[in-house]
Amino acid sequence: MSKLWGGRFTKSTNQLVEEFTASIEFDQQFAQEDIAGSIAHVTMLAECSIITNEEAKQIITGLKTIEEKIKAGSVPFSVEDEDIHMNIEKMLIDEIGPLGGKLHTGRSRNDQVATDIHLYVNKKTHEMIELVTAVQQAFVNQAEANMGVIMPGYTHLQRAQPVLFSHHLLAYFWMFERDKQRLVDSLQRVNWSPLGSGALAGTTFPIDRDRTAALLGFDKVYPNSLDAVSDRDFVLEFLSIASILMTHISRLSEELVTWSSQEFDFIELDDSFCTGSSIMPQKKNPDVPELLRGKTGRVHGNLFGLLTVLKGLPLAYNKDMQEDKEGLLDTVKTLDGSLRLLAPMIETMQVKQENMYNAVEQDYSNATDIADYLVTKGLPFRQAHEIIGKIVLYAIQQKKFLLALTLEEYQGFSSLFEEDIFDVLQPKHVVDARNSLGGTAKNQVCKQLEEAKDSLKVDDQKVMG
Ligand code: ARG
Repeated sequence: MSKLWGGRFTKSTNQLVEEFTASIEFDQQFAQEDIAGSIAHVTMLAECSIITNEEAKQIITGLKTIEEKIKAGSVPFSVEDEDIHMNIEKMLIDEIGPLGGKLHTGRSRNDQVATDIHLYVNKKTHEMIELVTAVQQAFVNQAEANMGVIMPGYTHLQRAQPVLFSHHLLAYFWMFERDKQRLVDSLQRVNWSPLGSGALAGTTFPIDRDRTAALLGFDKVYPNSLDAVSDRDFVLEFLSIASILMTHISRLSEELVTWSSQEFDFIELDDSFCTGSSIMPQKKNPDVPELLRGKTGRVHGNLFGLLTVLKGLPLAYNKDMQEDKEGLLDTVKTLDGSLRLLAPMIETMQVKQENMYNAVEQDYSNATDIADYLVTKGLPFRQAHEIIGKIVLYAIQQKKFLLALTLEEYQGFSSLFEEDIFDVLQPKHVVDARNSLGGTAKNQVCKQLEEAKDSLKVDDQKVMG
């Protein structure tokens, strides 16, 4: 059979054009959504007496047969039929005869493709929410197992103040929590139905858009047919959320790589998540976090790709919009793979508690606490800061850490120092002194952990609906 749109043409399509314009190679991944959309459309056409019930029945049976064949991998998709929509329509006509040609009544590929992508993004958003939750659970488990472990906290990658390792991990928990909230929130906009908008202006048939929306599980129909077929902001939103999420994954990965280095030696990733070197037998490389960090590039790129595709398009549909798919599919694949690896990698990493603690003992990250000590004795903070600066400089010159200075040495800088300064400087004291809400004191971090666990329970309920 010739092209489904061949009537107006006198020449066949140039082979290169056919290959260049076809999208079947990638949009076959929307087959399930396409068939679901078609079944809803046909059901509605019969209910509105635009086709008969018998016709609808036959078309639906045909579509289901095709769905089974596609699932079984036994259909040869053809570039000649350009995209998934025309491939399936052609298969339907082959399957049930010319009656199959009634499927496209009151519909265009423009509202059809938009519907497919909405359904696909909805499905993938739900999947991503589940995967993010698994990663959050891994943070919670490690935070719980290592409660009380002290590590250096950094600013500018310089040791700043000691923190609890669990506090550091839970920082990522909350980043992922907001990513998840963004995913959940976006569903409000993903769940609009474009179906029934036709090519751009609606249709002359007495269709029922609310009915197809309800059949497909959409919450609302697009009120404007032009908007419905010409925007892809819901895809941009998904890609944006994915980009932020990948940025979080990338920052975490960077820390995992750093912490696994011999210089830090704070953690060891499980052997099953590392690879070796083909030349250096001693190497155990953190390839997974490195690649997670690297793959962030393509996820950001996919967002920028689509922003750029859309930015100059006049309403309504333009063929440019076919470019919305590959980036989306790539981002879904990348994010899916990344999240699936991340959860078990976090779960199985070994935390070198002693090395973290030793690091804290060999730095000056308790300096702020000496300043706070003098402040509690009545000295203004600025003056205290100045004095401690001098003490730190003195200690560095003496090649000593702050706990190793004598009381006499301290008193040489201020007569306010007493014996209790040595308790104040203990790492555990330094940590527990930060007992402000959201601070690193064990008491606060335990509370935070409970809040994290509670929010996992609440989120579960929300997503399950
Ligand atoms: N393959 C097309 C796409 O992905 C489907 C819509 C085509 N519509 C059209 N009028 N050419 O965007």
